[in-house]
Amino acid sequence: MKNIVVLVSGGGTNLQALIDAQSRGEIKNGKITCVVSSNPNAYALTRAESNNIHTEVIRRRDYDSFGDYDNALTQLLLGQKADLVVLAGFMTILGSTVIKAFENRIINIHPSLIPSFCGEGFYGLHVHEQALAKGVKVTGATAHFVNEICDGGPIIIQRAVEVQNRDTPEILQKRVMEQAEWKILPKAVSLFCEDKIIVKDNKTEILE
Ligand code: GRF
Repeated sequence: MKNIVVLVSGGGTNLQALIDAQSRGEIKNGKITCVVSSNPNAYALTRAESNNIHTEVIRRRDYDSFGDYDNALTQLLLGQKADLVVLAGFMTILGSTVIKAFENRIINIHPSLIPSFCGEGFYGLHVHEQALAKGVKVTGATAHFVNEICDGGPIIIQRAVEVQNRDTPEILQKRVMEQAEWKILPKAVSLFCEDKIIVKDNKTEILE
């Protein structure tokens, strides 16, 4: 059984999707053992506590340098014996120490079809604002491994979502979450725990 540690900062609807998938037995060979928040007031922590999942808080501002923070987060994850780290709306940039320590073992969920609308500055509602500004007819979400390039790691699963007339960024964000993020993130996590993801040349092959 692999230990899954989920990193959050906010509302935690993706964490909830993972918890629900776990209760339905859809996370095969894995268990959410810890939720780490960058924000002590994140509602995601309440979701974890109501499901008896151990929680930790680590704030960037409690460390003098980014390097100290990077080391502390790495030690926390190693101390929790994480086999897989999931970024579910984690708003703090990861440093190279943690990325190297967990190479191809950190999964992020991004609310667009990478390589569209991704990279620096593309987070939260901004992603959907940019998709609407461009007038794309299809957007979606991507579950991918994290490497040192922002949103540049190997893609695991993508799912497309239609843009509709009169969408606002908020409406589109909700549709992308419901139809894509909450479905593909638990699926990607389960595939990882079942050792069904092979990474080669910054791409993945899924063994189904
Ligand atoms: C989601 O839109 C996700 O794609 C992005 O951050 C948001 C997190 O939302 N990375 P929640 O905290 O899971 O509700």
